[in-house]
Amino acid sequence: MSSAAPKILVTTTEVTDVTPMIKRFRFAAADGGPLPSFSGGAHVIVEMHDGSVLRRNPYSLMSPPSQTSSYTISVRRDDAGRGGSRFLHREVGPGSTLTISRPVNLFPIDWRARKHLLIAGGIGITPFLAQMTQLLAAATPFELHYAVRSREQGAYVDELEELYGDRVSVYCGDRGTRVPVDDLVADQPLGTHLSVCGPTGMMEWVLSTARAAGWPEHALHHERFLAPASGKPYVVTLALSKLSVPVSEQQSMLEAIEAAGVPAPYMCRGGACGECETTVLACDGTMLHNDVFLSAEERASGTKIMPCVSRFEGRSLVLQR
Ligand code: FES
Repeated sequence: MSSAAPKILVTTTEVTDVTPMIKRFRFAAADGGPLPSFSGGAHVIVEMHDGSVLRRNPYSLMSPPSQTSSYTISVRRDDAGRGGSRFLHREVGPGSTLTISRPVNLFPIDWRARKHLLIAGGIGITPFLAQMTQLLAAATPFELHYAVRSREQGAYVDELEELYGDRVSVYCGDRGTRVPVDDLVADQPLGTHLSVCGPTGMMEWVLSTARAAGWPEHALHHERFLAPASGKPYVVTLALSKLSVPVSEQQSMLEAIEAAGVPAPYMCRGGACGECETTVLACDGTMLHNDVFLSAEERASGTKIMPCVSRFEGRSLVLQR
């Protein structure tokens, strides 16, 4: 996918306050036709014209994949973030028109599993909402363990309990209950796969606990999109395009390259998929690698960077773009 890839013009048909910090947005195709089908775990990139900045943020689709008349996403407002979630909360209401990408799935259900152990933290519940409708329809065994700060701040707690009964366990930080990861990974039937989505610290804890208990890598799945960090402004040189591009404090390198009119590939825009990997021709300074894609050796080589989330500090950075 790149900024030039086919896009979908959608109209916002409904905005719902789910919790004081989370809103749900429903989009239908502006031409009234069906939207492309997708599978549970897929995301779309939502484009937002925020003043002079064009933001493109990924959001998981949470509506049932069989439903192509509309898509829904849930967005947690991040007051410390770069502004995408605040823009959606503040500026987008019923009737607003937006451009989104076609769905891409980097967190699909692994249908080889005989059972799915799903662990979600906070807004990390959203990809599982779509996945669980598919698992239920396929009569594939699953259980969801969902950690929230409190029942009031947790999205869709009542709905999940009502729909899925004892397949769902909810853990509330304000009541001191915690996902019993040690017990869960120690006591699963052969062929179970574990999927986790939530804050980085929680995902690392769950995955490392499972690995320590002997779970094989092929049975572990996670969705780890990172929001681009803000930082000091700098200039990146694009050798093939013969351009020097300023990257502002609140802009990602990828956004700055796109704003300069240079097409660049992307899929997750969150440092996870590898699609935006770019060759570094020269670097006089420090690359601030924020992705989870490059290996330690690749970072040490100083020849690659993921411009969707990584930044630079120093005198000059020259990319092969
Ligand atoms: S777009 Fe996926 S790592 Fe950059």
